[in-house]
Amino acid sequence: MAMLGYAEIIAAFLCFLLLWYWRWNKHSPTINWPIFGMLPGLLQNALHVHEFTTRLLKHNGGTLEFKGPWFTNMDFVITADPANIHHILSRNFSNYQKGPKFREIFEAIGDGIFAADADSWRFQRKLLQSMMKNKKFELFLKRFSRGKVENCLIPILDHFSSMGLEVDLQDVFQRYTFDNVCYLVLGFDPNCLSSEFAQVAHAKAFDQMEQSAFYRHIVPESCWKFQRWLQIGQEKKLSIAWKIFDQFVYQCISSKCEQLSRSRAQKMEVEEEKFDLLTACIEQDDGGEMDGSTKSTKFLRDMAFSLIAAGRDTISSGLTWFIWLVATHPSVEAKIIEEMKEHLVVNNEIMLGIDEVSKLVYLHAAICESLRLFPPVPFEHLCAIDSDILPSGHRIDPSTRMLYCPYAMGRMESIWGEDCLEFKPERWISEKGRIVHVPSYKFVAFNAGPRTCLGKDMSFIQMKIVASTIIWNYRLQLVEGHPVLPSVSVILHMKHGLKVRVTKRAL
Ligand code: HEM
Repeated sequence: MAMLGYAEIIAAFLCFLLLWYWRWNKHSPTINWPIFGMLPGLLQNALHVHEFTTRLLKHNGGTLEFKGPWFTNMDFVITADPANIHHILSRNFSNYQKGPKFREIFEAIGDGIFAADADSWRFQRKLLQSMMKNKKFELFLKRFSRGKVENCLIPILDHFSSMGLEVDLQDVFQRYTFDNVCYLVLGFDPNCLSSEFAQVAHAKAFDQMEQSAFYRHIVPESCWKFQRWLQIGQEKKLSIAWKIFDQFVYQCISSKCEQLSRSRAQKMEVEEEKFDLLTACIEQDDGGEMDGSTKSTKFLRDMAFSLIAAGRDTISSGLTWFIWLVATHPSVEAKIIEEMKEHLVVNNEIMLGIDEVSKLVYLHAAICESLRLFPPVPFEHLCAIDSDILPSGHRIDPSTRMLYCPYAMGRMESIWGEDCLEFKPERWISEKGRIVHVPSYKFVAFNAGPRTCLGKDMSFIQMKIVASTIIWNYRLQLVEGHPVLPSVSVILHMKHGLKVRVTKRAL
């Protein structure tokens, strides 16, 4: 009886402590509970995790130490402070790397550039940089992107327009970018963007791999590793998707190698106008830098995977949010059309070539503004090697994981002013009518410092060509009642797609 009395007293005392703790913390977006840390808050808000982290960061002055449950190794420092980002991505670059945790979470990337550190990263970056700077690659990119727009995108949208049917533009953009990036990287066009709109297994597999990578961010490591061992849930889906995707890439690599050795045997030149990165990589003389491993199938697979990941969903996500913003801001749409009329109409004909659309300042500003509010990569992470002190004063211990959040940064009044939530392309245009230079550690959609995105210029080209073609040729009407929300993934997709009706525009 006496024992029960003590137990009750202890339970009541613990309840009192928890209640007091909750009341003390109730104005914070999350509570750091004993034992469970901040994980309950994160899981409770997992469905709108980007908004949640934005609130959390605002509440904590831009940087906070996230505490996971005890003994789960889930602690990290999260920041949206430009000074901290400048510090970790540039000033003290050598102290921050992707690290083994990143490679575990993004296991399917293998040793590709996204997951690589030190010499392997330097080597791959140099290799890709030299291939992407090649004039032949630029020409190849221009010709193929334009061809896809004229021969696939326009006929498909014309079809939906004439039938008066709804179309999911996000799906259309994903198909367009998947075809584009596969052709540029592998030299093979999977033709996802065709009038049949068939489900393409390896494209779907890619989506699944992204979702599973996100899942590994929000559950304790031991939990997903156990699931992986048992092959259940998300981990089982990941294994299946991974297999499907690998089959596709390895198939492309082996036919490319065969094709090249046939051409060599017959002493034929590789077609002049073809310049995919896979061919360039196989033909490249690596100067013995990597012991000839650039020619290994695994190296080629990992490189192809990284580039497809880099180029497919980022551009399609950027385009989806951009078109939605334009469709919901008629004054911006009108200004884009006005600028196009002024600069691109020659003898009553519109010139929608890549070189022409590249001159449009207002369109460029509107795309930057859209990427500010909806960065395709909403958060990124690195790991500290040695101890450090951030400009915000936070202490970093060796092996601390650092997360930085482009999504939250776009919503910080301290960075963009009181109107930070508004879509205002004008903020990117100077009084002289030029694009305002914003430091990359403030506008971090393409990363910053030595690991800045290698596809930035290429992305602007592709986004401009697709966006200008759609805006010039069609009126877009959003399907009423269709929910527009960011998805919970490592890429900022639209959760339910972008459903619109398109009608031909008479200008
Ligand atoms: C709107 C489109 C794009 C956005 C917003 C974007 C954004 C980014 C970001 C945030 C990173 C850093 C990722 C990290 O370190 O974890 C990155 C890296 C990279 N991006 Fe992009 N990207 C885009 C398109 C592309 C395209 C089309 C390509 C080329 C096919 C590309 C190639 C790369 C490469 C190779 C890296 C690795 C750089 C390195 O680690 O040194 N990106 N990109």
